[in-house]
Amino acid sequence: MSTFPIVRPRRLRVTASMRTLVRETTLAPSDFIYPMFFNAALDTPSPIATMPGISQLPVSHAKAQAKLLAERGIKSVLLFGLPKTKDPRGESGCDPDGPVPRAIAEMKSAVPDLVVVTDVCVDEYTDHGHCGVLRKRRDGSIEVDNDATLEVLAKMSVMHANAGADIIAPSDMMDGRVGFIRAALDGASFETTAILSYAVKYASCFYGPFRDAADCAPKFGDRAGYQMDPANAREALREAALDEAEGADMLMVKPALPYLDVIRAVREKTNLPLAAYNVSGEYAMVHAAAAAKMLDLDRAIMEVLTSIRRAGADLILTYHAIRAAEILGG
Ligand code: PBG
Repeated sequence: MSTFPIVRPRRLRVTASMRTLVRETTLAPSDFIYPMFFNAALDTPSPIATMPGISQLPVSHAKAQAKLLAERGIKSVLLFGLPKTKDPRGESGCDPDGPVPRAIAEMKSAVPDLVVVTDVCVDEYTDHGHCGVLRKRRDGSIEVDNDATLEVLAKMSVMHANAGADIIAPSDMMDGRVGFIRAALDGASFETTAILSYAVKYASCFYGPFRDAADCAPKFGDRAGYQMDPANAREALREAALDEAEGADMLMVKPALPYLDVIRAVREKTNLPLAAYNVSGEYAMVHAAAAAKMLDLDRAIMEVLTSIRRAGADLILTYHAIRAAEILGG
């Protein structure tokens, strides 16, 4: 094998156009899914203190937002809802007049080909903030009841599909929910509505800002009984394989940055489209460092997003989507 001075890797870095020619990983606005929070109780946007540039929105802003995203070349959104009322089972999440179905209708009327993904989970709708229905164990302690939760998730999914959602994204981490939701959608003649499974979702501190944004922090305990242990990678492959077998059309790894190795590992095992969720804490961290003048915001955004694509994600759910699309010239 010949080496220096015959071999000089710098030859391919001499000019910007040469570097573009040999670039291995690219980013485009169509790689991004933009998460949004619609709050049924608002008339004007309510900025989220921990997430600069992100607000809870009234449904009346949905149309204008859809147009703005389309102008930037962003093809897809992920919708979360904040309801007027909460209860132990999260039933307000199944209300066809809730903020999510209303926002879907508004956004689709403005931009019919916008791909609308809805987060399916009860935590924004339960008064206790857990991702499922609770029950008492024999010893008196409380746990999330997996199978009872599936019923509510299926009902919510069918309601979202009926409201026009293109993709249902269950984020609850209950066992068996992909198959259960698939059967419910098919039973209601929504066999063309796709499922993007939050297949590999870790019990992460990086959801902190989101829990302010979506008002869904658990009132007691934590989510370690259903979300995954950050120490586990083999288990990620098991979760991904199960969801694929149950009929998921796309898989997701979440969060993204602390789990780039897991994205790569899942990428190597599945032929399904793979998404990664660059979550609220990852977003807040970059903004906090930039505000403190520790790094350049735009360069940090592009480096972070490139790393997630390089690790193997096809799609990135990210709050940086609008700024990133502007940087990309959209
Ligand atoms: C649950 C859900 C969460 C996020 C997306 N869906 C929060 C959680 O599991 O506690 C986190 C997203 C983010 O942090 O940006 N419905």
